[in-house]
Order: sequence, then structure tokens, then C-alpha cells
Amino acid sequence: MAVYKAPRGTHDIFGQLALALEKLDMISRKMFKKHNFKEVKTPIFEDVNLFTRSIGESTDIVEKEMYVFEDRKGRKLALRPEGTASLVRAYIEHNFNQTEPVGKFFYSGEMFRYERPQAGRYRQFSQMGAEYLGNPSPNADAEIILAASEILKALGIKDIKIHLNSLGCSSCRAGFRQKLVEYFSSIDDLCEDCRRRLEKNPLRLLDCKIDAAKFQNVPTMQECLCSDCKTHFEQVQNLLKSAECEYEINHKLVRGLDYYTRTVFEIRSASVGSQDALCAGGRYDNLVEELGGMKVPSVGFALGCERVLMAAEKNGFFNGLNDGEIVFIAVADQELFYHAFAFSNKLLTNKDNIADALGFNGNIIIEGPFNDKSLKSQFKLADRLGAKKTVIFGKNEFDNGKIVIKDMVTKEQKEVLYKN
Ligand code: HAM
Repeated sequence: MAVYKAPRGTHDIFGQLALALEKLDMISRKMFKKHNFKEVKTPIFEDVNLFTRSIGESTDIVEKEMYVFEDRKGRKLALRPEGTASLVRAYIEHNFNQTEPVGKFFYSGEMFRYERPQAGRYRQFSQMGAEYLGNPSPNADAEIILAASEILKALGIKDIKIHLNSLGCSSCRAGFRQKLVEYFSSIDDLCEDCRRRLEKNPLRLLDCKIDAAKFQNVPTMQECLCSDCKTHFEQVQNLLKSAECEYEINHKLVRGLDYYTRTVFEIRSASVGSQDALCAGGRYDNLVEELGGMKVPSVGFALGCERVLMAAEKNGFFNGLNDGEIVFIAVADQELFYHAFAFSNKLLTNKDNIADALGFNGNIIIEGPFNDKSLKSQFKLADRLGAKKTVIFGKNEFDNGKIVIKDMVTKEQKEVLYKN
């Protein structure tokens, strides 16, 4: 028999990780809603050209990492490698610019990239992202950066660093591109990727991991920013300072997707190894228009749930994760099984406020009853499940209109009145 395993670069999520992911989802959603971002769910696959057009033909994602396939009618589709392109496609398709008073949206879900797997880098991973469409002002950039860092802080991640840069607009970037071509052309032993990119996309050389050490005194985008882009970038920084948000300028931050204009940022954590970008984003003023819409200047971010949870775990996020307190329903005499079953249902629905009347406050989880186990093995199971309380249906007590509640921690037992 063949033994099947999860495909390389994917992982099953269960146990503590599943609970942590649920909590991350809850905290992020709360933060998105506070900022008035509205949820949009888009399909997991789209026309491949949507991603090629938006992310850029000469990016790693499009060149090497997309899962592309044809459906039975020969349509060329791709599993989404990120969420921004799909969100923009939905924005244009549903005329959100006319129906939504502000263009603030969030999404969450699985993304797919055929990357070399390692800790924090997977072929299927989850993102939660927010996009602010239609606001050209630096306020929107600052709000996006603050919302991202608020989520990370709410998860208890303390060692975060915001890396900030501006990539300018198409006019000032042309000058920067020229300077980079001149600079990199003078370096002889560039790696194969860098040599190839020098013509197509010289900005991408700035974050080459192989050649980084060779690049001293590289020209910076700041030297080339036009006055509008410069003012925009200064205002973003002033707004961040006014919100007491610390950041550092990183001239080498260029990002791996081509749609960015002006502000780009990454939020990194030192506690998760080489895949340290927990969250990333920036402004994309031309993307909506490039995909067939109007000119809608926009900015957004996405956080990588797996990486965020790796950092959160180091900061104690996994301590005390649980869904509530387990109440175990045990049957001492199987004659009472049906009564115990009915009781467990009443407790589940809190019929006649029974949970409150019996002192089960807060979030309770109900397990049992079982009709195929001895009382001893029911108690063993209650212990293994970590039940805080066990409700016991015993013949004598039940005949007197009572049930027994056992505190599994103190082992104290008390009889309480219970009418069927
Ligand atoms: P990105 O930098 O490609 O940007 O991805 C955002 C985050 O997703 C990364 O910072 C990282 O945490 C996580 N991530 C990316 N690839 C992987 C992987 N292979 N395994 C695990 N986690 C990964 C975007 O996707 C843009 N759409 C962000 C954005 C939104 N820009 C504007 N709006």
C-alpha cells in the first residue's frame, strides 16, 4: 500500500496550532473592523494573466513560483500567490468605487507559491491582508502601517521592526533605474539571476541574497525622488512619528512584486530566523488602472499567518490556548444513560439557564455521556481530556432528584438538585 503524505511545502494544521490560528484570525478581524475594513472573499484560483499583469512578468513569483493549470475547457488558471490582485479584480468587477463609501477591504486565506520550503516558507500558506483603495493621501499609508503593527502587537509580538522605503512614481523611478543600471554594470561577477534582471528589472538586484555583500554605496531611491514623492514620503514618516510608531528607513527594500509605487514596508521580527518578514505591503497607485479600472491610488499589506504565529509563539501566545472548560458527563448506572444524554443537551443549549443554575460559568465544552465505558474508564477519559468538572448520574442520587458534580482539580463532590 502506498503511504500518502502531505505534499512538500504544505502542512496539516491541528491541535495548538489550529487554536492559535483561530485566535490570530479573531484578533486580526477585530482590528480590521475597528479600522472599518470590510471583508471580501475571492476565489482561490483566477485567470493566470491577472497575476502576470499585476505582480510583474520578471518577478520570482511569476517566473518560477505560480501553480498554473488548465481546466477542462483549456482556460489557463493559477492558484492565487497573493491577495491584492484578486481584491483589485473584484473591486473593478463589482464597481466598489461607486457602491462603497470608502474603499477599505480585508481578506484572509490560503496562498500558493512554488518556493523552496524551509522554516517559515511554504508552498501553501495563509495570509490576512487589508487594502485601502482610492485614498492617495499619506494618511492611508500611515493607517495601513499602523493597523499592521497593531495586529502584531495585539498578538504579543514585541521584537518587531518596521522597515520603510519609497520607490517613487514612474517618472522618478526611471532616473533611479538608470543609476542602478550604471552602478551594477560596473560589477563583473554578478550571479546569474542578477545578470538577467539587470536589463529587465534592475531594482530587484537590491535584494539579491547572493550578491548583497558586493554592493557597497549603491545609489538610493531617496536621491532620485521627485518633489511630490519626497513630500509624500516625509508626510508618511511625520504621521508615523505623531502616532509614536518607530520605523527605520531601509534603502534596499524593494519588495518582490512590481505593482508598488511610493511607500513600501516590511515588518520583521528577529525571533523567527531567516524568513523574518511577518508582514509586508505598500502603495500601488497604478494597479487598478493597469487592470482595466480607473485611476485609484491604493495601499495595503498582508501578513503571513504561519510566520506571525512562529513569532507569537516565542512571545507566549500559545500559553493557555483553549476553547473553554470541559464538563464531562459520566454515567454510573447505564439505566440513566438517556437522562444523562438529555441533560448534556440541556447544558449545551443552556435550556432554562441550567448551566448558570449549576454554576458552570463562562465558555463550557461538553463531553459525554458514553454508554460503552465503565465508570472507571469514563473518569480516566475525563482526566485525559483535562475536564475541570464531571457531572455524575448515579442511581441513588438520581432517584432522590439529584446529580453529583465533581471538581476534577480539588476532587470535591457535591450533590445538586436536578429535575428531569
Ligand atoms: P508578500 O511580501 O509577497 O506581499 O507576502 C506578504 C507576507 O506573506 C510575507 O511578509 C510573509 O509573511 C508571507 N509569505 C509570503 N510568502 C510566503 C511563503 N512562501 N510561506 C509563508 N509565508 C509567506 C504580498 O503578498 C502583497 N500582496 C502584500 C500587499 C498587500 N501589498 C499591498 N497590499
